Amino acid sequence: MAKNIILTGDRPTGKLHLGHFVGSLRERVRIQESGSYDEMYIMIADAQALTDNADNPEKIRESIIEVALDYLSVGLDPNKISMFIQSQVSELTELTFFYMNLVTLARLERNPTVKSEIKLREFNNSIPVGFMTYPISQAADITAFKANLVPVGVDQLPMIEQTREIVRSFNNTYKKEVLVEPEAVLPNNEVCLRLPGTDGKAKMSKSLGNCIYLSDPSEEVKKKVMSMYTDPNHIRVEDPGKVEDNTVFTYLDAFCTDEHFAKYLPEYKNLDELKAHYQKGGLGDVKIKKFLFNVLEEVLTPIREKRKIYENKIEEVYNILERGSNKAREKAQETLREVKEAMKINYFEDKELIKSHIEKYDKGE
Ligand code: TRP
Repeated sequence: MAKNIILTGDRPTGKLHLGHFVGSLRERVRIQESGSYDEMYIMIADAQALTDNADNPEKIRESIIEVALDYLSVGLDPNKISMFIQSQVSELTELTFFYMNLVTLARLERNPTVKSEIKLREFNNSIPVGFMTYPISQAADITAFKANLVPVGVDQLPMIEQTREIVRSFNNTYKKEVLVEPEAVLPNNEVCLRLPGTDGKAKMSKSLGNCIYLSDPSEEVKKKVMSMYTDPNHIRVEDPGKVEDNTVFTYLDAFCTDEHFAKYLPEYKNLDELKAHYQKGGLGDVKIKKFLFNVLEEVLTPIREKRKIYENKIEEVYNILERGSNKAREKAQETLREVKEAMKINYFEDKELIKSHIEKYDKGE
């Protein structure tokens, strides 16, 4: 029977925020709790983070522990999954080097996520080779574990597609079904695919300064929610308001349940009723913001509490990462051995090869 193997991860360039939470973290915990998987690996992608932070390893180093704390605080459980650090599994770099032969430069240049990142970072003509080729390294991350499921945000779809191409190309070229084609796992709630920032801009992103972090204290969350972008034409309470592109409603779509209404806003049964009132007019922004704040607090409070526990056990967190890295390494070694065998670069293990060369030179005598 085919196995369900999950691999996913994040670049450690800062703390994780609500966009990460609804886009992927929540999905990972759901899979973990469903128990319907055989192996699950969650990777802190420090090597990938270095591809555009080569001169700032300190930032990456400081962010690893933050991401690990965020993982643990949302409920990823080291007894059920392996949490590891990418750079500590050197087999991944080796695989990357071999896969590089199966990918053209033109193909890398077409990757839409890489394209937009290049623009954003204003690399112009000084794109680091490591950065340009990180989709290949990401294919190594996924295939080293023979992962078939990859829970990620939509911006990662081009990476999964490129991984699938590499898998097909490898298995074809070396005539052996060694690697497994992965599939992305996306959240099924549309608004969770790309949660906008608190300023209403397309994406929650650290560089835009529009994030609510999982580790933000309550007062900080309140401040951010109360200053959130809504409908700029909804000026007086009586004015009819728009719920489309209204960040508060987008967040409510992503987070609130009918139980939240019963608890914090019982005059409405559900979000549809609240939206209808807002659209008709007579519902002020402050009221919906306060409600959103309560909803977010309900989500964030247990996360904050769990974080506190682990913040007091940093050594244990490092132990978790070390154990996870050792486990990940074992698995990656196994795949690398199969890859080398398929590529016929396992010279010392290949007794037939040695024998045939003995015979070749025997004949001359
Ligand atoms: N590219 C991902 C990010 O930007 C991190 C990552 C690296 C990853 N390797 C991966 C995600 C493999 C999923 C699978 O956060």
